[in-house]
Amino acid sequence: MSWKAIGIFDSGVGGLTVLKEIVKALPQEDTIYLGDTARVPYGTKSPETVIRYARQITEFLVGRDIKLLVVACNTASAVALDSLNEAFSIPIVGVIEPGARRAVSVTKTGKVAVIGTEGTVKSSAYTKAIKRLSSDVQVVTRACPLFVPLAEEGWVDNEVARLTARSYLEGLREDGVDTLVLGCTHYPLLKGVIEEVMGSDVVLVDSAEETARTVAGILADHDLLRPVAEKGNHHYFVTDVPAGFIRVGNRFLGGDLGDVYQVNLEQ
Ligand code: SIN
Repeated sequence: MSWKAIGIFDSGVGGLTVLKEIVKALPQEDTIYLGDTARVPYGTKSPETVIRYARQITEFLVGRDIKLLVVACNTASAVALDSLNEAFSIPIVGVIEPGARRAVSVTKTGKVAVIGTEGTVKSSAYTKAIKRLSSDVQVVTRACPLFVPLAEEGWVDNEVARLTARSYLEGLREDGVDTLVLGCTHYPLLKGVIEEVMGSDVVLVDSAEETARTVAGILADHDLLRPVAEKGNHHYFVTDVPAGFIRVGNRFLGGDLGDVYQVNLEQ
């Protein structure tokens, strides 16, 4: 057993979708979340830059004595996971493998679409992960970079969000996919408008639930779970002024965010 917290990071508010599922699956666990709000988005940056950011954040979280790290950002999972695993000895969980696993298990037609940031799409990380699991599955990918600022701004259910979703996604419907992977942790915040465009016959895969299951499995295997009777505490850090994160985060977590502290990782 370990009383240490689970560390979770994302470029901004989107990783809260993963945190929410982890808290649902493991309510007894403490969590420490870092949103790199000063440097969001990651999806338009080079792999070298994202790796540097990911290492700085992991140093910060490891310095707070976490027992496991969740990279709750698809772009960082796609380009920085190997580098983090080389540099740090705690278990590290990304969101790509769990999302790919879920997509392969739900597709019936074998035609899967993956939407993500430019960085994630360019890395082909999802296509490779899906093909590793099932080489017969056909994968089409599309970058939807404007979804990230819309989610950060909380513009998830208005005409701008609807128009953006339509222009990114209408072509994918015509490709005949039956499964759409939300390959960016910000995108579940726009699930409603994405569903409107894709229609109810396309299953939306959000890797958050599957990632939470993976975390629970690793903690159980390493005998690191806290007793189930406990109730976890949750701490939040951001790298820019917290106001926007608090506003969107509270809406998303139902007003439950608590204190959010600003930190400088570049000192
Ligand atoms: C971004 O920072 O561009 C989005 C985060 C993600 O890829 O999940």
